[in-house]
Amino acid sequence: MSDNHKNPFLSSEFYGIIQGKEVYRYILQNETMRVIITNLAGAIIAIYTKSRNGSEKNIVAGFNDIKDYEENPYYFGCVIGRNANRIANGKFVLNGKTIQLSVNDGINHLHGGFNGFNGKVWKLSGAQTEKDEVSVEFEYLSTDGEEGYPGNLLVKIKYTLNNKNELSVEYNADTDKATPVSLTNHSYFNLSGFESSTIHEHLLYVNAKNYTEKNVNNTPTGNILPVADTPLDFREPKKIGKDIHQFPKDNGFDHNFVLRKNVSGPIVPAAQLKDPSSGRTVTVYTDQPGIQVYTANFWDGTVEGTHGAYQQHGAIALETQAFPDSPNHPSFPGTILQPGQHYFSKTVYQFGIE
Ligand code: GLA
Repeated sequence: MSDNHKNPFLSSEFYGIIQGKEVYRYILQNETMRVIITNLAGAIIAIYTKSRNGSEKNIVAGFNDIKDYEENPYYFGCVIGRNANRIANGKFVLNGKTIQLSVNDGINHLHGGFNGFNGKVWKLSGAQTEKDEVSVEFEYLSTDGEEGYPGNLLVKIKYTLNNKNELSVEYNADTDKATPVSLTNHSYFNLSGFESSTIHEHLLYVNAKNYTEKNVNNTPTGNILPVADTPLDFREPKKIGKDIHQFPKDNGFDHNFVLRKNVSGPIVPAAQLKDPSSGRTVTVYTDQPGIQVYTANFWDGTVEGTHGAYQQHGAIALETQAFPDSPNHPSFPGTILQPGQHYFSKTVYQFGIE
């Protein structure tokens, strides 16, 4: 990486043609770190940060070859929508009418369906270079009926890297019919830069005293239970490997935590991940009510990407979002966006060294 740029710097390079559309890689960099983002799937391809010893590594799972993003079975780096995580039986009632979404994960709808936002080529709708930050913005129009969802939904995703090593993701959406919206990013972190093949030695803090209980179909029962005295208690930083084997059916952690809201401001620290060996840290701030913690439980070495073959527990996804299956749980924070209302959500990933 070039250190010539005191101010954050934005560049782009042609990546290929997908679905007849031009795809680019956008490189956002500041003095110490570099983020590569593409308008295919709105995906984060790579995040290069330095270790305590100055060694620079890509700390997120990704692919070199553009073609791999068309398959991308584990959603590496993608924008997820219209609705992150599962909707039970792909069904819910809205204004007295049953809406049937596509069913692409057992009996459930998962991550927006067979061809969710992760399968789309997004359009560049903005690029800015300011003194302290650089940003790119993509937009995608999800049409009425796509994957069963009602309404035309115009979605914008803006990625900003600033001089404080914060990568922020801002999500905006508007609809012309009532529809559920819960957007997230599905980046998987391994702060050793995948030098360690698992994240078992990483320390995780989650700002949650409760989680949403799941049934056998991996969707919420509706109960909100305390994490105290369970393997899900991350209120003090805990080694991920300590309790990762306590959920044999899930093969690891795959749970939605109920975030504790900070009354003084809309953005709260949701989670922090640390790799004691390299010293790299990432702190996640969000205005969302939940965070899905998923430890790459079904990676089995068959998918090869930027770091070679990805192994089980090779990385961790920290998916800030509304609670899973919210349209079927009136007691959960609402996700239905009405025409005339505006959806806005923001998540910040702050990178550091200890
Ligand atoms: C989320 C879900 C997991 C899994 C992954 C994608 O984290 O909670 O169950 O579907 O996405 O592999």
